[in-house]
Amino acid sequence: MERLQKVMAHAGVASRRKCEELIISGHVQVNGKLVTELGYKVSTSDKIEVDGVPLYKEEPVYYLFNKPQRVISAVSDDKGRAVVTDYFQGLQERIYPIGRLDYDTTGLLLLTNDGEFANLLMHPKYHVEKTYIAKVKGIPTEQQLKKLKYGIKIDGKKTAPAKVKLLSGDTDKQTATIELTIHEGWNHQVKKMFMAIGTPVMKLRREKYGSLTLDHLGVGQWRPLKKYEVQKLKQEAMQMQPKK
Ligand code: URA
Repeated sequence: MERLQKVMAHAGVASRRKCEELIISGHVQVNGKLVTELGYKVSTSDKIEVDGVPLYKEEPVYYLFNKPQRVISAVSDDKGRAVVTDYFQGLQERIYPIGRLDYDTTGLLLLTNDGEFANLLMHPKYHVEKTYIAKVKGIPTEQQLKKLKYGIKIDGKKTAPAKVKLLSGDTDKQTATIELTIHEGWNHQVKKMFMAIGTPVMKLRREKYGSLTLDHLGVGQWRPLKKYEVQKLKQEAMQMQPKK
């Protein structure tokens, strides 16, 4: 028998301290019963769930999904809106998205039931590169784009250097399409970055996640990741330099 928070941390849910917080704040169930007590001990046969998601015991599965607009990056929604897992009906495993794309953002989203893998990819120290195509209002100048490239303050923090490419500009409509590659994953980061230079995002799509691309996957379609793609993503995540 082991302490619940230790088993959770080992399963890759979060750090032990964060797991303690999850238990105390009522996010954890054991065999269908809410447990908020820190000393609680569990055995390997106990069924542990965090917010309804079972601790990883199933065969790990990994999917690449092209998320449509007006779909929530979650497994359920209290307002009854469409969620990404609606597109995976009939799957045995209980998968969930790795990170989030906004309700109105389309593009590449990974889903898995492997908590350790998800934590690795979302860990603030180890974010892999993500490439977005943004249609923005206004045509940013070279000067403005440099601010994105070298880092810009949003929410009181400076973003890490990014790759920025102006793909096209429409002088009549005063819009532009820009490719932006970042490796952090702050909330609404891309929208905030463009807002900070005065060219708000009208449309956003994620094109790349590490070395993965959408390829010919249509909006709303998904495919399983190949073994080597999973391995490569792990390597890419580990190669990212920890932040100071
Ligand atoms: N940045 C955003 O602003 N929105 C997303 O959906 C993803 C990244």
